[in-house]
Amino acid sequence: MTTEIDAPVEEQIVGVLRRLGIERAHFASRNLGDWRGLVVNHPEAVASLTLVCPLGFDAAALEPLGDRLLVFNADRGGATDTINRNMAGLPSASTVTLSGYEYPNNYADIAVQQGEAVAPAMLDFLGSRSSLPSVSPSVEEGEVGGVYFTVHGSGPPLALTALGAAPVQWDPILAALSERYCVISMFGPALGMVASLEGRGRTFGYLSAVGSLIASAAIQPGESVLEVGCGTGVLCRWLARETGGNNPVSGVDVNTYFLREGAEIARREGVADAVSFHEGSAEEMPFDDATFDVAFSSTVVQRVNADLMLPEMVRVTKPGGRVAVLGHAHDMNRWVNLPLGQELKMRIESPPWVDDRGHPQGCDDATLYRKFAQLGLTDLRMYPFISTFSDPGRLQFLEGGILPTLNPEEAAEWRTAVEQARADGTFFISTPFHCAVGRKG
Ligand SMILES: C[S@@+](CC[C@H](N)C(=O)[O-])C[C@H]1O[C@@H](n2cnc3c(N)ncnc32)[C@H](O)[C@@H]1O
Repeated sequence: MTTEIDAPVEEQIVGVLRRLGIERAHFASRNLGDWRGLVVNHPEAVASLTLVCPLGFDAAALEPLGDRLLVFNADRGGATDTINRNMAGLPSASTVTLSGYEYPNNYADIAVQQGEAVAPAMLDFLGSRSSLPSVSPSVEEGEVGGVYFTVHGSGPPLALTALGAAPVQWDPILAALSERYCVISMFGPALGMVASLEGRGRTFGYLSAVGSLIASAAIQPGESVLEVGCGTGVLCRWLARETGGNNPVSGVDVNTYFLREGAEIARREGVADAVSFHEGSAEEMPFDDATFDVAFSSTVVQRVNADLMLPEMVRVTKPGGRVAVLGHAHDMNRWVNLPLGQELKMRIESPPWVDDRGHPQGCDDATLYRKFAQLGLTDLRMYPFISTFSDPGRLQFLEGGILPTLNPEEAAEWRTAVEQARADGTFFISTPFHCAVGRKG
C-alpha cells in the first residue's frame, strides 16, 4: 500500500477547520503548494496569510488578499531580489525584512534563527487585522486526508502549515503565538516538503531516473542497501516494494522532521519492518566500514560537502559492493514544453535555473563525474538522465519557482501558454540529472 493523498490539499485544510467548527482563520505558510490552492479556491476561509521567506511565489494568486498579506523576506541572497520585485507589484501587502539574514533554503530552521523577529512582527500584523471570533476547540488533534493537526491555546484561529523542511518547524515560536491565538499546527504527508518529496518520489519521471541508477547498481537478492539522505524515505519504501522485501533497506538523513514523518508514513504503509531509518550526516555516517552491499543517494550531493560524502559512501560499502549517486544537473538545460516565445523559453530553460545552488562544497553539475572517477571505484557508469514531470503537483512546484522570475508581461505569456498546453494535454517539464555508479574493488 502507498500513501494516496486525495488532492487538492486545500480541501483537507478546510476540512480541518470544519472539523474544529471554524469557518475562517489566519494562515501562515512557507511552501507554495500549501497556500496557493487555498487562496485561489477557498478565499472565504483565509482571513490573512503570512508567508515566511516563501518557497515558490505566485503574485497573481496573492493579489486579491490586498492588505491581508504579510511576507517575511531576507535581506540578501537566494530569492531576496525576486521576492522584493514581486512585492513591489503588491503595494497593499506588508513586507518585513529580516536584517542581516541570508535567504534561507528549504532546510533552514527559521524559527530558531529568526523567531525573535518573526513572532512579534506576526503578532503585530495579526493584531492589526479585523478580528476573528475566538475559538477553543474541544478536539486537540486529528487528521483529515493526510493533513494532521494539533491545537494549542484559544483565541482567534491561526493555522500554521509546514515551515519548509525546518527540523523543529514552528516550535520555537508556538508558545508566543498561542498566548493570543488558537494555533492549529498542520503537518503530515500532504503538506510542505514532505508532500513535495513524497509526490516526486511517486512520479514516473523521478522513478525512471532513480530506477536507471538502481538498475546500474545491479542489486542482488538479499543484498543490503543504504540510501544516503533518504528524506521521508519515499525511495526506501519504493525499493523495499520493488525488491519484494528481499533486501534490507536503510535510510540515513540529518533532518529529524523528515525522519519523524517518514517513520510514520512507513508505519501506515505497513513497510516499517522492511525499512530502517537512522539519524546522521552523509559527511560522517554512523555506520562501520563495509556495512552495506549498495550505497545510493538521490538529489542530496548538492546539499552536502560532496568531497566528504562520496568517500563516506565508499567507506560504508563492502568490497565488491556498489556506490550509486544521482545529482541535480543545474549546469544543463531543462525543457519546458510550452508554446512560449523563443527568447523567454530559452531564458527559462538555460542555466542558471535555480536560486538555491545548495551547499558551497556541494555538487550540482558535471564535476560529479570527475569526483566519482577519483574514488578508486571500478566498472564506472556515468551519464546524464532527463526526467519528465507531467503530474499537477510537480508542475505546480516547478511553476512556483518560475513564475516569480517573470515580469508581468512574461507571466501573462506563461499563463496563456500553460492554459493552451493544458487544453492540449501537452504540459510537461523535463529536468536533467547526473548519474554515476561504480564498484568498490
Ligand atoms: C531533495 S531531498 C532528497 C530526499 C530523498 N533522497 C528523495 O529523493 O526523496 C535532500 C535530502 O538531503 C538531506 N540532507 C541534507 N544534508 C544532509 C547531510 N549532511 N546528511 C544527510 N542528509 C542530508 C535532506 O535532509 C533531505 O532529506
